[in-house]
Amino acid sequence: MAKLILLLVLLLIFLASTSSTCPLDHKKALLQFKSSLTKILNTYSNVPLVSVMDSWNPGSDCCLWDGVICSSSSAKSSAVIALYLNSLVLVESESPMVVPTSVLMPIFGIKTLMLLDISFNQIQGEIPGTELANLTKLVHLEMMGNKFSGSIPQQVFRLKYLQYLDMSDNLLSGNLSHGVGALRNLRTLRLDQNLLKGSIPEEIGNLEKLEELSLRSNGFEGGIMSSILYLKELKVLDLRDNLLSMEIPSTIDMLSNLTTLALGGNRLSGGIPSSIEKLGKLETLHLGRNVLDGEIPLWLFSMKSLKNLVLGGNNLTWNIGNVKTLAPKFTLSQLSLSSCGLKGEIPHWISTQKGLNFLDLSENQLEGTFPQWLAEMDVGTIILSDNKFSGSLPPRLFDSLSLSVLALSRNNFSGELPKNIGDANSIMILMLASNQFSGEIPQSISNIYRLLLLDLSKNRFSGQSFPSFDGAFLAYIDLSSNEFSGEIPTTFSDETRILSLGDNKFSGSFPRNLTKFSQLQHLDLHDNNIKGEIPNFLSQISTLEVLVLRNNSIQGSVPESIFNISSLRILDVSNNNLTGKISDRVGNLEGMIETPNTISSLPGFFTFSIEFNDLIVNWKKSKLGLSSRSLSIYSFLDLSKNQISGKIPVSLGQLKGLKLLNISHNNFSGNIPSSLGDLQSVESLDLSHNRLSGSIPPTLVRLRELSTLDVSNNMLTGKIPVGGQMDTMADPASYANNSGLCGMQIHVLCADQGPPPGAEGGFRREEEQDADDEKWFLWEGAGIGYAVGLLSTVGIVYFFGY
Ligand SMILES: *[C@@H]1O[C@H](CO)[C@@H](O)[C@H](O)[C@H]1NC(C)=O
Ligand SMILES: *[C@@H]1O[C@H](CO)[C@@H](O)[C@H](O)[C@H]1NC(C)=O
Ligand SMILES: *[C@@H]1O[C@H](CO)[C@@H](O)[C@H](O)[C@H]1NC(C)=O
Ligand SMILES: *[C@@H]1O[C@H](CO)[C@@H](O)[C@H](O)[C@H]1NC(C)=O
Ligand SMILES: *[C@@H]1O[C@H](CO)[C@@H](O)[C@H](O)[C@H]1NC(C)=O
Ligand SMILES: *[C@@H]1O[C@H](CO)[C@@H](O)[C@H](O)[C@H]1NC(C)=O
Ligand SMILES: *[C@@H]1O[C@H](CO)[C@@H](O)[C@H](O)[C@H]1NC(C)=O
Ligand SMILES: *[C@@H]1O[C@H](CO)[C@@H](O)[C@H](O)[C@H]1NC(C)=O
Ligand SMILES: *[C@@H]1O[C@H](CO)[C@@H](O)[C@H](O)[C@H]1NC(C)=O
Ligand SMILES: *[C@@H]1O[C@H](CO)[C@@H](O)[C@H](O)[C@H]1NC(C)=O
Ligand SMILES: *[C@@H]1O[C@H](CO)[C@@H](O)[C@H](O)[C@H]1NC(C)=O
Ligand SMILES: *[C@@H]1O[C@H](CO)[C@@H](O)[C@H](O)[C@H]1NC(C)=O
Repeated sequence: MAKLILLLVLLLIFLASTSSTCPLDHKKALLQFKSSLTKILNTYSNVPLVSVMDSWNPGSDCCLWDGVICSSSSAKSSAVIALYLNSLVLVESESPMVVPTSVLMPIFGIKTLMLLDISFNQIQGEIPGTELANLTKLVHLEMMGNKFSGSIPQQVFRLKYLQYLDMSDNLLSGNLSHGVGALRNLRTLRLDQNLLKGSIPEEIGNLEKLEELSLRSNGFEGGIMSSILYLKELKVLDLRDNLLSMEIPSTIDMLSNLTTLALGGNRLSGGIPSSIEKLGKLETLHLGRNVLDGEIPLWLFSMKSLKNLVLGGNNLTWNIGNVKTLAPKFTLSQLSLSSCGLKGEIPHWISTQKGLNFLDLSENQLEGTFPQWLAEMDVGTIILSDNKFSGSLPPRLFDSLSLSVLALSRNNFSGELPKNIGDANSIMILMLASNQFSGEIPQSISNIYRLLLLDLSKNRFSGQSFPSFDGAFLAYIDLSSNEFSGEIPTTFSDETRILSLGDNKFSGSFPRNLTKFSQLQHLDLHDNNIKGEIPNFLSQISTLEVLVLRNNSIQGSVPESIFNISSLRILDVSNNNLTGKISDRVGNLEGMIETPNTISSLPGFFTFSIEFNDLIVNWKKSKLGLSSRSLSIYSFLDLSKNQISGKIPVSLGQLKGLKLLNISHNNFSGNIPSSLGDLQSVESLDLSHNRLSGSIPPTLVRLRELSTLDVSNNMLTGKIPVGGQMDTMADPASYANNSGLCGMQIHVLCADQGPPPGAEGGFRREEEQDADDEKWFLWEGAGIGYAVGLLSTVGIVYFFGY
């Protein structure tokens, strides 16, 4: 493809002779485009127009402007035939900036255009089909990296000279119309990363000149249509990350020119067809993350041209054994055999792959030590997580300047980290969780200036002094479940977003330097020995979403200022020595008011499956691990196990996003405010072990999501409310040790209810008898029904989490 573009560019430059002059109407259109784009950018502060258009002055020949190419095929008339208008707007992709499609209107008047590149410009809205249809001479159209939405207009498919069409990375939706089959000259079609769905139209088979078909990361479903086998010129077929099912066509070898066959991340079943062996030019075979089964065929090893082989994440088996004599004919740069049932030592034939840059052997049953030969290969990405490796890491591994990802979590590696670890200063991701590593973190690690994610959790690392990460990019840090001691370290980068230090031996009080983490979203210090009060200065970290201080020795009251942190969604201060009252300002916690429902994602470079930084919370009487990706759908407030006194603030009822409220094991007194009935999202409500009096407010009947309730060990009296989920809250232990609760849930007759005539042990009022009869029989069934609902919530968490 690159060749084709180059050719086209050369052609265009050839056509553009120096003597060309710009037609007035084209100049006018371009100036109009510049001025309307500038106008839009000026409404946003600090968004400069990229310098490409600096040369666009009314006084000069537009054929001499940057990004503009004219033809002068005939001496008289020259015309603008190509516009390179990509990346004119320099903003981050999450920027709220909107460039409307209307800025393009002047350009659609330049009917001589053969090439138009408007990629990466934040353009938003539907593709203006009618206007685009004016550009009938288009050969090359690039629109990627904008925010175009709606379906692809039919007019695009009538651009009959079109050879190159790239609309990747937009928000295009709907089905891909069969009209696409009219683009008979098309050589490249790229629609990656949109929201297209439905089946891939058979008419694609009409695009006889197609060399590249790339529909990655959409929602296409159904089979791989057989008409694709007519695309004789096809070199690249990339259908990764869709919902395609069925088997890989056994006649795939009809596409004899294929260099890339990428079908990973679908639901393809069956085995790897042997016809693939006949694809003599195949360089990339990406079949990972499907449900393929059967054996990994031996003939793969004789495919000379193969460079990238990705088979991981299927149900394939490896029956080749660890044959020492296996001599593959390929020279791979990428190899993924994750979850392929590999056993024993790392296959030795991998050592013959001198150009290897990416190796993923995770989720197998490999054992033995980290081979010295692998350390000497200078591989860029090494993923050996979830195996049974042991022994220490060879220092040679860190002499590599290529190493950028090292993921060895969940093995049985041990020993200290090599002192020279910092020599590998290209590492971006270092994940060593759940091993037996010990000793201090080597000081040299602070030389790894590219380090972005550091996960050393669940090892036996120790030490009091931390290397300084000042000035590094390090943003995600998990050191939890180790044996670190000393004060809470603050030697990390100002860029830190996640800081997990739980389950160590940290002591002392909160250091003021914590406030330098002005981007911190997640601070977890559970199970340490932190003393002193929660300082007001914590509220200066306004980005804080998760604050977990569970099980320390923190004293004093929960300061009002904490309730000013508007992004706070999870606050767990349980199991400390907190006293005093909870201010009514608790109802101001905005992050707990909005119903969280979006799944936040870690940055896009986490392309392989990782488990990073589970947050452990007390959820419905047991510990639940939430992965950092799913955290954003949760909102918790846990004040349990302290000595907090006073009344339950009425304003708590405003926190409508809360899924969990636990104030148990405190010294709360007074009534349960009826405002708790406004906690519409709450699934788990624990008020037990306090000194609450009065009756349970009937408003609790409104809690539709409630599945766990505990009001035991208080001084409550009166009737347990009936109706809604309250009918299913029938565990007697949830009401035990109060001062006279009654109700059907605990089979205790209320004083105001007469004995039912002739019924043994009943306590229903006569007029309610029929309705209640039903309840007696249904409520256990109902209980099960709701439990299923709860399980599905947790299921979603794990589904999205990993
Ligand atoms: C498209 O072409 C028609 C007919 O030549 C013209 O009237 C119209 O203004 C053009 N549209 C744009 C956006 O330039
Ligand atoms: C989109 O495709 C699906 C599946 O191929 C089909 O059932 C549906 O009718 C199509 N919708 C439209 C609007 O064409
Ligand atoms: C494959 O590629 C070769 C050379 O690039 C070309 O000559 C041939 O026509 C293509 N098509 C088939 C079906 O071989
Ligand atoms: C994987 O294959 C084995 C047998 O080969 C089968 O028992 C198992 O159910 C399969 N697993 C999945 C997820 O298909
Ligand atoms: C892990 O390695 C240690 C020695 O470092 C050994 O005692 C232990 O048995 C190993 N555990 C497993 C599960 O292999
Ligand atoms: C806190 O930060 C300042 C500078 O930012 C530094 O001089 C000081 O040593 C730090 N204190 C501690 C206890 O780390
Ligand atoms: C609290 O933390 C200590 C270690 O700091 C641990 O031993 C203890 O089990 C934890 N308690 C609870 C209830 O988790
Ligand atoms: C909380 O914010 C309010 C208004 O933003 C401010 O008036 C108040 O002083 C803050 N409270 C604390 C304790 O910081
Ligand atoms: C915290 O409370 C526990 C028991 O409630 C007590 O044993 C401990 O001494 C207290 N710690 C501090 C630092 O006050
Ligand atoms: C509330 O917190 C206490 C103590 O932290 C814990 O034992 C209990 O299980 C929690 N309640 C619920 C419903 O999770
Ligand atoms: C609980 O609060 C009452 C006042 O409401 C106080 O008298 C009592 O000492 C407190 N108990 C504890 C254990 O803090
Ligand atoms: C009720 O109180 C008694 C005595 O304090 C205790 O043994 C029992 O466990 C409590 N029951 C419940 C369900 O909390």
